[in-house]
Amino acid sequence: MQKTQADLQNIVSHSKQYGFIFQSSEIYEGGLGAVYDYGPLGVLLKRNISDAWWKAMVQYNENVVGLDAAILMHPKVWKASGHVDAFHDPLIDNKDSKKRYRADTLIENYIQKLQNKALKDANKKAKKQGWEINSPEYTNYLHKTRHWKKAYEVQERLNKALQNEDLQELKQIILDYEIADPETGSKNWTDVRLFQLMFKTQLGAISGEASDIFLRPETAQGIFVNFLNVQKAMRLSIPFGIAQIGKAFRNEIIARQFIFRMREFEQMEMQFFVRPGTEMKWFEYWKEQRYNWYLALGIKPEFLRFHKHEKLAHYANAAEDIEFNFPFGFKEIEGIHSRTDFDLKRHQEFSGKKLQYYDSEIQQSYVPYVIETSCGLDRIFLMMMSYAYTEEEVPSAKGTPEKRVVMKFSPVIAPIKAAILPLVRKEPQMVEIARNIFNDLKYDFQVHY
Ligand code: GAP
Repeated sequence: MQKTQADLQNIVSHSKQYGFIFQSSEIYEGGLGAVYDYGPLGVLLKRNISDAWWKAMVQYNENVVGLDAAILMHPKVWKASGHVDAFHDPLIDNKDSKKRYRADTLIENYIQKLQNKALKDANKKAKKQGWEINSPEYTNYLHKTRHWKKAYEVQERLNKALQNEDLQELKQIILDYEIADPETGSKNWTDVRLFQLMFKTQLGAISGEASDIFLRPETAQGIFVNFLNVQKAMRLSIPFGIAQIGKAFRNEIIARQFIFRMREFEQMEMQFFVRPGTEMKWFEYWKEQRYNWYLALGIKPEFLRFHKHEKLAHYANAAEDIEFNFPFGFKEIEGIHSRTDFDLKRHQEFSGKKLQYYDSEIQQSYVPYVIETSCGLDRIFLMMMSYAYTEEEVPSAKGTPEKRVVMKFSPVIAPIKAAILPLVRKEPQMVEIARNIFNDLKYDFQVHY
């Protein structure tokens, strides 16, 4: 059967009604924005996803080991990683609606709208001409449409502005293309400012510069600073990986689309340490491994795609995202990055401690290169919810068809594996048989009586 796309609002309602996800502290004024609690079914689903990842990364790979580093880290870690100086988003406020947006996201959404218009136009033309979608004639026509050309032009300006961190230009793009507040239509904008995404807190009782620390915005740095501890303790030879699952925190400016963008979320990351010069081979290897993991969890290939980063971060020499077709379009669920020796070298520099590896095969010491696989557990959760969500029509007792929701989870991640339902409660024998079945199964499976 053809799989179609579920509506996000239906998924949000279903998540609450059936105990998958609740808004955090909801009884207080509707709750805390972009922070969520996982309910009884949610916690089971989430654990099954993280268990599947852990098995695929740690258990099935003899050269990948696990770690559980602390959320709080020495403040110099975030200086070395570049987060203190560069981890910020460009934000803009609408003076009339008082709503706050990421300037780059406003522009990206505008580009997406232009592209959608161009696609609509090209699809119409293809129908008339009998062209296949994505055939050379189709693509040629699409790229010549007015809206596609304009989208390209805006994208170029956006890329340049982001590359140069040119906040004035970001505002100018918004003004030039008359991009409006999506909720109110107002075009009355403030200037664009940078907004630090890390949550700051204080260590101990005294406040001030010296005791300022951060909640980690990614789990990766816990792996980098433990690189030598782990390598020595486990006597690992390169290539090897360190994997961990843990909470990360980002003070996201805009947090819409449910659990897609949260302020407190969980990451599943692995850093794979390799000999310099071999990184592209491992980059391709992990790209394939990670893509296949989603297929193994039952996601059809047409719901997945790779997105290659054209604009690379200063430390990366290759980066691609795996995207899933969410109810709101294709969006990133995982990043695979070739991070060179940037992180280890920076930690070496800032800590004054050598982070080198002696490679006995080539009899040389070096700072290893790193391939990172980084995915969001909550995003994969949302992917699984939207992929499983199915509305069906079934005949009712009254004769008119009734709508019901079926969550078609892959058995590996399904929160509950079997339900034991004694159909006649008043029949003690039936109840006893059902209880016995439940007791036989409960040690190996999550079952529902
Ligand atoms: N160490 C690399 C790193 O953190 P990232 O692209 O910023 O890279 C990796 O994040 C993954 O973490 C993303 O692909 C996404 O799945 C997840 N993620 C990032 N920010 C998130 C947020 N605010 N809410 C939920 N998941 C998030």
